[in-house]
Amino acid sequence: MAPSSLHVASELYPLIKTGGLADVMGALPSALNRLGAPTRILLPGYPGVMAAAGAMTAITEWPNLFGGGAARVLAGHLEDIDVPAYVLDVPGFFDRPGNPYLDDNGHDWPDNARRFAALSWTGAELARSLDPRWQPDVVHSHDWQAGLIPAYLAADPAPTPKTAIAVHNLAYQGVFPGDTFAWLGLPASSFSPEGLEFYGQVSFLKAGLAAADRITTVSRTYAQEIQSVEQGCGFDGLLRSRADVLSGIVNGADYDVWNPATDHRLPRPYGAKSIDDKEVAKKALRERLGLDQVAEGPLFGVVSRLTWHKGLDLLFAALPVLVERGGQLALLGTGEAGLEAGFRASADRFAGQVGAVLGYDEELAHLIIAGSDVVLVPSRAEPCGLTQIYAMKYGSLPLVRNTGGLADTVVNADAKAIAAGTATGFVFNLATIDALAGTIGWVCDQWQDRARWRSMQQTAMAMDFSWGRAAGDYLRLYEEMVA
Ligand code: ADP
Ligand code: GLC
Repeated sequence: MAPSSLHVASELYPLIKTGGLADVMGALPSALNRLGAPTRILLPGYPGVMAAAGAMTAITEWPNLFGGGAARVLAGHLEDIDVPAYVLDVPGFFDRPGNPYLDDNGHDWPDNARRFAALSWTGAELARSLDPRWQPDVVHSHDWQAGLIPAYLAADPAPTPKTAIAVHNLAYQGVFPGDTFAWLGLPASSFSPEGLEFYGQVSFLKAGLAAADRITTVSRTYAQEIQSVEQGCGFDGLLRSRADVLSGIVNGADYDVWNPATDHRLPRPYGAKSIDDKEVAKKALRERLGLDQVAEGPLFGVVSRLTWHKGLDLLFAALPVLVERGGQLALLGTGEAGLEAGFRASADRFAGQVGAVLGYDEELAHLIIAGSDVVLVPSRAEPCGLTQIYAMKYGSLPLVRNTGGLADTVVNADAKAIAAGTATGFVFNLATIDALAGTIGWVCDQWQDRARWRSMQQTAMAMDFSWGRAAGDYLRLYEEMVA
């Protein structure tokens, strides 16, 4: 029997999403089930999750979980989600609309430590047979929100399931004041540099990194990078010391959601054989963003959280070059106020050539991935990155920085790759304005050779990043863990 696993996370597409974690959770557990490994998920009861939980039943109730008031654990099936689920329903913690981590002013909810300690606690309880009918062989925590699970289980003198922690982004560490430790319910010994203590504070992610049997991350290159001082976000020493249990598995893409041939969000679906119909999406995109219907250069698209890590300040600074070369930009994103203001101003300044929608919009995200000639991901750090993977399937060539999962998924159009017919995009090395601007110029040159561009599109569209491969790698890892 293949090992069973419980995946604990704070996001799941299409119920609750701020980024790629949701996409992974919406696909990896089902892919594991399809391989015959019984897999379940645990999610917080956000409004979108509770709306899909009508058919689930309570398996336990607690009068007051970590100060959040009455709590229930529901089991069963979430509507339209094919993986068996548990939901932690604590209205005092999770019945809040909007972003799951931030209030309306963009500040962290003040009780985030309690909210996600509660999630982790519940994950640990499920590992310890809270559900008398099911117990996993492996509990896989995703990111800091589930980071305490390995610490709770490691503190249990009884035998417990194996634990893994998945790092989707090391920059988000779940750091809270040191006095948080008092009520977490962990043994005093864990408040140490070998445990979850981080310069006098506590880090939920560090708790997981220190205590889990295995550490996974979402690309091979990122697994290496996070062991360096530059990309280790203060955890590089710990990660180096645990290098023997650290592995990188590149994410897949859910081609049920991201496939131009079946994408009901496009004005006209298209495939490799009907790639001329991609123009229909481009036309609709230009119309939607107020871009001129004719341009000399390619249309660049961005769908991203607007943060420094994503390198979008570099793009902002390189925009005059993009515009001067006759290119266009269609940008969708939310995030740092300075970047939002910058792109809003650029759209005014370069009207017709630059369009920006500052918000979260699933429909428009698909139209941008489909309607762009180039999808830009100039990240300073990128654990995996999904939009470049989606872009390839849509025949939109990615322009990415040589880092993390971007480096592992895009083949640069250098002379050798062009000759071999393996090029799928454009890769630059240095996280500088000049390097990005120069690469944008180079891409504009390549754009003129339409036959070569078409052949790169065909290569990109033929790439297969479906989840089966990654799920198989996770399954082998779980088999090793339980052996
Ligand atoms: P990250 O998880 O770091 O944000 P990824 O590339 O892994 O980066 O995943 C981002 C996911 O979020 C993709 O599915 C992308 O389409 C989506 N996304 C990001 N910003 C927006 C937005 N403003 N509107 C709609 N979807 C978005
Ligand atoms: C994180 C990373 C992103 C990755 C995603 C899913 O949000 O920033 O690179 O693709 O998780 O693993």
